[in-house]
Amino acid sequence: MEFGFALLTDPIMSASAPSSPSNRPRKRHSTSNKNQYPQTVMKNGRKYFLDDKSYSPYPLPCDVKELSRQTLWHELSRELWGGYSTINWDTEKLPDRVLDLGCGTGIWSAAMNEDFIKRGKKGTEFVGMDLMEGNQMDMRDVNWKFVKHNFLETPFPFEAETFDFVFMRDIMLTYPSKDMYSGIISEVLRIIKPGGLFEIQCNDYIIRTLSRPSTPSYLPGTSSYEITSTTQFLSVPENPFISTYNTLITSALVKRDLPPVPCTLVKASFLTEDGVSILSQRRFALPFDQIWWESTTAPSSSSTGGGDGNSDADSKASKRRSTSGSSVDSFQSAGKTYCGAGSRKRGGSVSASSYHHHHYSGKASSASGSGSGSGSSNGDQFPSPLTDAELALRHLVRLMFVQLIEALEPVLRDAEGMEVDEWDSWYRELMWNWFEGGGLRGGECMEFGAWYGKKKAK
Ligand SMILES: C[S@@+](CC[C@H](N)C(=O)[O-])C[C@H]1O[C@@H](n2cnc3c(N)ncnc32)[C@H](O)[C@@H]1O
Repeated sequence: MEFGFALLTDPIMSASAPSSPSNRPRKRHSTSNKNQYPQTVMKNGRKYFLDDKSYSPYPLPCDVKELSRQTLWHELSRELWGGYSTINWDTEKLPDRVLDLGCGTGIWSAAMNEDFIKRGKKGTEFVGMDLMEGNQMDMRDVNWKFVKHNFLETPFPFEAETFDFVFMRDIMLTYPSKDMYSGIISEVLRIIKPGGLFEIQCNDYIIRTLSRPSTPSYLPGTSSYEITSTTQFLSVPENPFISTYNTLITSALVKRDLPPVPCTLVKASFLTEDGVSILSQRRFALPFDQIWWESTTAPSSSSTGGGDGNSDADSKASKRRSTSGSSVDSFQSAGKTYCGAGSRKRGGSVSASSYHHHHYSGKASSASGSGSGSGSSNGDQFPSPLTDAELALRHLVRLMFVQLIEALEPVLRDAEGMEVDEWDSWYRELMWNWFEGGGLRGGECMEFGAWYGKKKAK
């Protein structure tokens, strides 16, 4: 099978003078361990890349369980963005050659291939590049080529200006923030044709808590809120497990020089490059559960103010605030305090249930899990204006967040020297609080971003 892109046999020799639009000096990394890919280690029964920043700072596993997490993520992205790409494709100008950077299973390329065929374009060449070979799905129906290559080794093994479109999803934990400009971004801009497109989809790793919106921003089909310049977040998360998670993830990622909030950084990173224009950006906050203010008012039509002080929702809100943090215990590990797990020894007295009880008051403890759809009752306290599909998406993102935490366990524990039994206790309480105790009804959300842009024509 003939592929239209040029895969160079000796990347260093052949790409000695890449035509990068960037004026910055480009960092060259060693290729000495190139033939030993992938170097992996086992931790907690999971497989990870070798823990060596110069090899890859990537903290997620690279095993089968992780691939299923990524597949769920793929489906969630489709629901969130209304398709696999946020680009408004002109059917006349669908790309001939596409690069899927950090392709993982290749599921995005397979889905886009189908999408392009439905739009009347056959034979688009998809090239997937990743450090991990052998994880790709059956690509017989796709004009597909896999290239095993480490992002940290530049230049990438492609000729300049050979791709119409470069797609990057969920790869923000693969590359040190400080080298982003001289590495991936500069390479992407070198290999795209003038006038070609690139798209980035990612999520933030620090979790923020939405404040009740003062302008309508709910996007019903996506179950999420659009993030705009007026979107407000609580300064400190109310959920104690989120607080602890935020501390752990920040410490873990900063140690690896990885960005805890890539959505906030990504546009700026691309805009600093010459010859680039950003054509679209979208930022969504997808809550992990039905939020307290959504229980009595349909968010799609009436999330219109900070409350008049008289509504049922407002009184619940103030009750939540007045009790905030008052009943939450903490425990010590290696001289540090972890909020949330409390002193809930098995059979102990203080627990996540008391946290939940104080925060949501009254009969709230009867509300567990997601409700049953539009107009239905989600426990006595939470009649749901969300549809089944919207609630399902909330449940899915909650589940996926927990899978992410599980996948990151070794680095999160290492970050603050947390012992296994301390982790287990914290994690058990977290699960109870988030899945049984309604602890994520405060507006805690996963933030997603999608950008696409163009390399300017010469
Ligand atoms: C979270 S997955 C995303 C996969 C895919 N883009 C998707 O959205 O389904 C990140 C991918 O980056 C790859 N990766 C991590 N570090 C890398 C590196 N240094 N060079 C190349 N690929 C890397 C991993 O093997 C993994 O497949």
